[in-house]
Amino acid sequence: MTAIATAAALSLPISLYRPAKINAKKSVRGGFRVFALFGEEGGLVDKKSAWSMLFDVEDPRSKVPQCKGKFLDVNQALEVARYDIQYCDWRARQDVLTIMLLHEKVVEVLNPLARDYKSIGTMKKELAELQEDLAQAHRQVHISEARVATALDKLAYMEALVNDRLLQDRHTSGTDQTCASPSTSKQSLDIVKGKLPRKSLNVSGPVQPYNTRLKNFWFPVAFSTDLKDDTMVPFDCFEEPWVIFRGKDGIPGCVQNTCAHRACPLHLGSVNEGRIQCPYHGWEYSTDGKCEKMPSTQLRNVKIKSLPCFEQEGMIWIWPGDEPPTATIPCLLPPSGFEIHAEIVMELPIEHGLLLDNLLDLAHAPFTHTSTFAKGWSVPSLVKFLTPASGLQGYWDPYPIDMEFRPPCMVLSTIGISKPGKLEGQNTRQCATHLHQLHVCLPSSRKKTRLLYRMSLDFASVLKHVPFMQYLWRHFAEQVLNEDLRLVLGQQERMNNGANVWNLPVGYDKLGVRYRLWRDALERGAKQLPFMEPM
Ligand code: FES
Ligand SMILES: [Fe+2]
Repeated sequence: MTAIATAAALSLPISLYRPAKINAKKSVRGGFRVFALFGEEGGLVDKKSAWSMLFDVEDPRSKVPQCKGKFLDVNQALEVARYDIQYCDWRARQDVLTIMLLHEKVVEVLNPLARDYKSIGTMKKELAELQEDLAQAHRQVHISEARVATALDKLAYMEALVNDRLLQDRHTSGTDQTCASPSTSKQSLDIVKGKLPRKSLNVSGPVQPYNTRLKNFWFPVAFSTDLKDDTMVPFDCFEEPWVIFRGKDGIPGCVQNTCAHRACPLHLGSVNEGRIQCPYHGWEYSTDGKCEKMPSTQLRNVKIKSLPCFEQEGMIWIWPGDEPPTATIPCLLPPSGFEIHAEIVMELPIEHGLLLDNLLDLAHAPFTHTSTFAKGWSVPSLVKFLTPASGLQGYWDPYPIDMEFRPPCMVLSTIGISKPGKLEGQNTRQCATHLHQLHVCLPSSRKKTRLLYRMSLDFASVLKHVPFMQYLWRHFAEQVLNEDLRLVLGQQERMNNGANVWNLPVGYDKLGVRYRLWRDALERGAKQLPFMEPM
């Protein structure tokens, strides 16, 4: 990296690499030594000069561990990745030296005092050759830059895998051994070879029917404020239509959104005295699905499907699974000190897993959100997601953003804001003010997600009382989401045609990868789920 920076600082008009045309005092293959370089007056200085320090670096190739065809554990693989970086660094230094030496040659050719008499034609020819050499070396520097970038990326990914392995060893001993993980020895070797653990993370082809294990969770489906006494909220969940409404006691219930008589959607009707009335022939159902009125005919014993349904902390929750519901409903409220400013619901034409992948990724922001919150952001040289504990939560580096995936389909994030509209500081604790977000991605169907978005602030309380602010928040949220949507829709189309949307994960994809590994283990019925406390 130092060498690359130096090359840029030299600002040479052109650069080159053609070892065969450079005389013996230049590079020596295998053991690189510099014997002479420019001094301040353009003369040569000895190898003890400041420049010689830059180039006096040993060729690391002889020390690279011989691992071809061997299975490596993660630490060995990490060591190989480190040697990769050293080699790239050495290579880049060699390229810069080549440029300097050719520069020396150009000066020599042009200096009338330092050369024998030459005709103009001879000089032109020599200069043309040097120009060609310089252009070649310039290309070589670019290749070195790309190699260094790739090697760094690989090293970051390897470090993440080692980190995962250590955490797994510490926290999930006894884990179901069939659980796929990218940190096995075989997979580490794949990384060294430049391949990825494809088998463990293959999300391709048309979305498969939902696994019933994914249904055995409490799912938030609506905000309490959207469910008045005489209104109802229809939604789809796992390919089935449901509707929630409040009973006479104000307690919400969830029933199938299909009339038992002739399958008319119930939400097209109305809620009267705690019963939902079908708009076709007026049959009325209570919150447990029992038909209590059948106008113009004799009442029969009819019941439609209903789901366990509760209200907690401003949200309505349902349990769509076939196992008994767990006793506790998770808390999704923001931390103390925050006030809720916006609650927004959107129906999106994408599969919920793809939306979660998108929300768990921050590295895309400076490329995708260029008209909204990431406008003017620079692109960091390295983006990482750091997990202080084995789990599905951590924080982004270099962004002041904490993030968590909360099973089965929630993303919580806290964003540090130093100045209005500005993202500064290395972590959220350094920031005086914060924005807290909750995204619930309810799996409506294999092509649809019901998104519940809640935004809270620990400052600007007065905004809660500004008229029409809800509309403005909604406008901002839609703008941001639209920037993502066109891309994720494109992914979905590719995926349905067979492409793997997790074909090549890199270091900053850590949280998304962990979500997929968690979901994969859940759907396979693993005894202990990865990244979760042992049950
Ligand atoms: S279809 Fe609902 S009452 Fe007839
Ligand atoms: Fe985004």
